[in-house]
Amino acid sequence: MDMSRRTVIVGAAAAGVTAATLGTAHAAEVRKPVRTPFGTLADGTRVHRWSLENGGTRLKVLSYGGIVQSLEVPDRRGRHTNVSLGFDTLEDYVSSSPYFGALIGRYGNRIAEGRFTLDGRTHQVSVNDGENTLHGGAQGFDKRVWDVEPFTKGSDVGLHLYYTSVDGEMGYPGTLRTKVTYTLTRDGDWRIDYEATTDRATVVNLTSHVYWNLAGESSGTVYDHELSIAASRYTPVDAGLIPTGELAKVAGTPFDFRRAKTVGEDIRVAHPQLLHGKGLDHNWVLDKGITSRPGHIATLRDPSSGRTLRIATTEPGLQFYSGNFLDGSLVGSGGTVYRQGDGLCLETQHYPDSPNHPSFPSTVLRPGQTYRSTTVHSFSA
Ligand code: BGC
Repeated sequence: MDMSRRTVIVGAAAAGVTAATLGTAHAAEVRKPVRTPFGTLADGTRVHRWSLENGGTRLKVLSYGGIVQSLEVPDRRGRHTNVSLGFDTLEDYVSSSPYFGALIGRYGNRIAEGRFTLDGRTHQVSVNDGENTLHGGAQGFDKRVWDVEPFTKGSDVGLHLYYTSVDGEMGYPGTLRTKVTYTLTRDGDWRIDYEATTDRATVVNLTSHVYWNLAGESSGTVYDHELSIAASRYTPVDAGLIPTGELAKVAGTPFDFRRAKTVGEDIRVAHPQLLHGKGLDHNWVLDKGITSRPGHIATLRDPSSGRTLRIATTEPGLQFYSGNFLDGSLVGSGGTVYRQGDGLCLETQHYPDSPNHPSFPSTVLRPGQTYRSTTVHSFSA
């Protein structure tokens, strides 16, 4: 940026004019992320909250779990609201979070009985969901403190988050070096780039566990949101929410979101699969499969505010969880009680329990390889 433009923007800021109100995107100098204290863990580790803003999107991220504590986007009249469920305090995140906004690893979703065999050796990982492993085990990446490095690059602003999971942590083989980059673009897109390397063969499936409510995190259920998912098949599950291995057609079932319909439209249909997870809690097999560049896979729209979220990913699967286990026992950041269906998750990832299903796309990572995954969230109203 040349000095004359910098002077104009600094002057405008001093006059109380924000970059966004300057109109043209290229005129806006990106603001650096701002760090504030967010509390201290029992072991004395300090946790920070990073605030970022670009293109009309405002993001607040914790060093604990890489948690998206708040994500604000405008409605059709330009009014911002937080569209992501969460808490106000670190204590709440530590004691009772159902993964609100968190980074998930080393393995997103379930592994049956926490057991898998890799190169002839059987590994037993931490079991924390009945007899199964969920989201990496008892102390997954959502409960770790990440090293955070802010950046601005061209018109982008963002955070690099680093976490090294040592060999044997939660039972997983191999020291896994993980880097996750959150970027806000000048269009207000939130992009997540995941990277990981290992020194021994292991399994990896990283994702983000934001609970969306595009009407606002304390506005009631998302059943009137319209959703489309570009998937002709899904993976049915058993009573423990472990995939049976079948790739079933969505046609003629409540799982058919190929054309947009409301989340609530079929959620009370007496389909046996809806009983297992008390609603929708399944992996959709994305028609586009694994891609080197993010491809569009889902659109979520709240008709009342006009807020629309479009998701593109490189991943082959989408776990759509309709917030079924929210039961009125948690008070969220907006001061209201969260009840069933008050938020939904759209987790881009490989299929659950892939280590035990050779026919599913592989989640094995070997030394010398780099795990890469990208998901882009685009907002409009
Ligand atoms: C899973 C649900 C689980 C939830 C935890 C989702 O990713 O699919 O079964 O209850 O995470 O909040």
